Amino acid sequence: MKLRKAVIPVAGLGTRFLPATKTVPKELLPIVDIPSIQYVVQEAVDAGIEEIIFVTGRGKDGIEDHFDEAPELEQLLTERGNHEMVKTLRMIAEMTEVVSVRQKKPLGLGHAVLCAKDLVGDEPFAVMLADDLIEAEVPGIRQLIKIFEETSESVVALMEVPESEVHQYGIIKGREIKKRLYQVEATVEKPLAKDAPSRMAIIGRYVLRPEIFKILQDLPPGRGGEIQLTDGLSQLVRERKIFGCEFVGERYDIGDKFGFVRATVAYALKRADLRDKVLEYLKSIPN
Ligand code: G1P
Repeated sequence: MKLRKAVIPVAGLGTRFLPATKTVPKELLPIVDIPSIQYVVQEAVDAGIEEIIFVTGRGKDGIEDHFDEAPELEQLLTERGNHEMVKTLRMIAEMTEVVSVRQKKPLGLGHAVLCAKDLVGDEPFAVMLADDLIEAEVPGIRQLIKIFEETSESVVALMEVPESEVHQYGIIKGREIKKRLYQVEATVEKPLAKDAPSRMAIIGRYVLRPEIFKILQDLPPGRGGEIQLTDGLSQLVRERKIFGCEFVGERYDIGDKFGFVRATVAYALKRADLRDKVLEYLKSIPN
């Protein structure tokens, strides 16, 4: 079955980026000159996904507006002869179908995914967290979809993390059945290092079977008093297989300030118009 839809939760308040996020959704903060959410949507589109479902909250309308048409702006730019930017704006508006649903209360990632239940329907779907940017030759979510196409089972993205960081992630217990492919046996949300079953962390890309909705509906709050997607997975794995894909690519955690700066530098270095200047500047910084 073709995977057509991706759920992207964007209701989070972005408190780690205050005061910038007082009025601007954190997903619209730019990495160079592109709002970070656009990189995530582009990854979905490049992977063949046809519909994006944003799970939004109050003050987040700008995210949908970003993917809408901007006729007044286009007209102004046309009059000024900036046809390149008109093309860029058209490309963004035509990238993909966008729909949205509100998560009225911040009850956790599992709850955010549950909010998309009616828009997803009874079919497998992707979940993509906007705090994780993945730069890869084969789009991150595409690497998971490939495993889903072969197995018809749910798949999570995995990355080995240092012991000092396991408490920040959903961690799996599992075994490697093929190079970079894991069979997940259990999942635990943000364990203490001493209790963690491994150092294989779930990164914000998932392909999920629709059975997850029934599980999330009945799930009690977990860590932090929130409905955790990781807890839902730990139940799903008792009913059906879940695979883990240790994806190939570079991941940037832009929910973290240093990760955001790292992504900014890395993406600037990929730009022909900026690369030399940025490199020269970095080399010139005294240490
Ligand atoms: C969320 C998930 C966690 C996952 C992480 C990946 O946590 O709850 O299981 O490992 O994303 O980035 P958050 O970073 O939103 O606290």
